[in-house]
Amino acid sequence: MNIDWENLGFEFSSTKSNIRFSYHDGEWSEGKLYNSDEITLSVASNCLHYGQAAFEGLKAFCCKDGKVRVFRPEENARRLNVSAEYLMMPKFPEEKFIEAVKTIVQDNIDYVPPYGTGGSLYIRPVLIGTTAQIGISPAKDYELIIMVSPVGPYYKGGIKPVNAMILDHLDRAAPQGTGHIKVAGNYAASLYPTNIAKKGGCHVTLFLDAKSHDFIDEFGSSNFAAITPDGKYVTPQSSTVLPSITNKSLMQIAEDLGIEVDRRQVHRSELETFAEVGAVGTAVVITPVGKIVHGEKVYEYGDTIGPVLKKLYDEMTGIQYGEIPDRHHWMLEV
Ligand code: PLP
Ligand code: COI
Repeated sequence: MNIDWENLGFEFSSTKSNIRFSYHDGEWSEGKLYNSDEITLSVASNCLHYGQAAFEGLKAFCCKDGKVRVFRPEENARRLNVSAEYLMMPKFPEEKFIEAVKTIVQDNIDYVPPYGTGGSLYIRPVLIGTTAQIGISPAKDYELIIMVSPVGPYYKGGIKPVNAMILDHLDRAAPQGTGHIKVAGNYAASLYPTNIAKKGGCHVTLFLDAKSHDFIDEFGSSNFAAITPDGKYVTPQSSTVLPSITNKSLMQIAEDLGIEVDRRQVHRSELETFAEVGAVGTAVVITPVGKIVHGEKVYEYGDTIGPVLKKLYDEMTGIQYGEIPDRHHWMLEV
């Protein structure tokens, strides 16, 4: 094992193990640890053809006191079951999910980036329909696999701003088109617009609501948050954005710090008025957005993280790395 902890990006690297549960005849099996990254599937597996698959993402941190803790796993357990319900997949018991997260982090404890490196162990549960079938109907058999990978910042350059592009002329599905769920295959639909954004010098896409194209939804892999000139935290209220656990936590932290939270429809014309804009999520944490390109229009927010987002970033990562008291009991020790 030879890991360059300081220079990790958001890439998959193989670890000691993953944990797998199988669902047959209406019951989930006990978890089994596998040292191989490979799985055997029928060529006719439902998840391959029809995308009956959902995933989650959460992180474990090596804290200042040397202990390893996971950030709010019960929220991911709950949200996975929302995805399962929408996709006609069996729910996975929440307590079993949390136990499995603990087991897989313990078994891969050597892969948790040390305190001070800024890294974390990304935990990726994926629930897939495995029945061999060609008719469109829910699978009868499923696997829940939880894999882990040590990661650093999602966008290279740490908390340096990224650029975003709105492509509302494109009638292409976005991840958030399915609202409250994380559909594994669905993210592939965001690759095409993101590729156009990248060619235009932007790192990410910012999606507007699919109906009117007037209101801001979210970025391709994170929620949208903005700070108004008078210091309010604004984030879209929309039924077609993923309910981000990071955003929910930031809204709580903002309130704790006396920052007013305004969760409401956000009209695209307001992009002109914001003092700071950030992409918020597990993988991206809070990544400042320097520029948003919408056709001929360019909205600029500066080339460093703004003071309010920085304050929220420090507070959030301070809790995650055990530097600030965990006043809301978000961290689960493994
Ligand atoms: N929105 C989308 C489309 C995402 O993929 C993610 C990341 O998982 C988020 C928002 C942020 O959610 P969370 O903070 O729970 O990671
Ligand atoms: C996360 O933030 O955990 C995500 O799932 C985002 C992404 C890499 C799809």
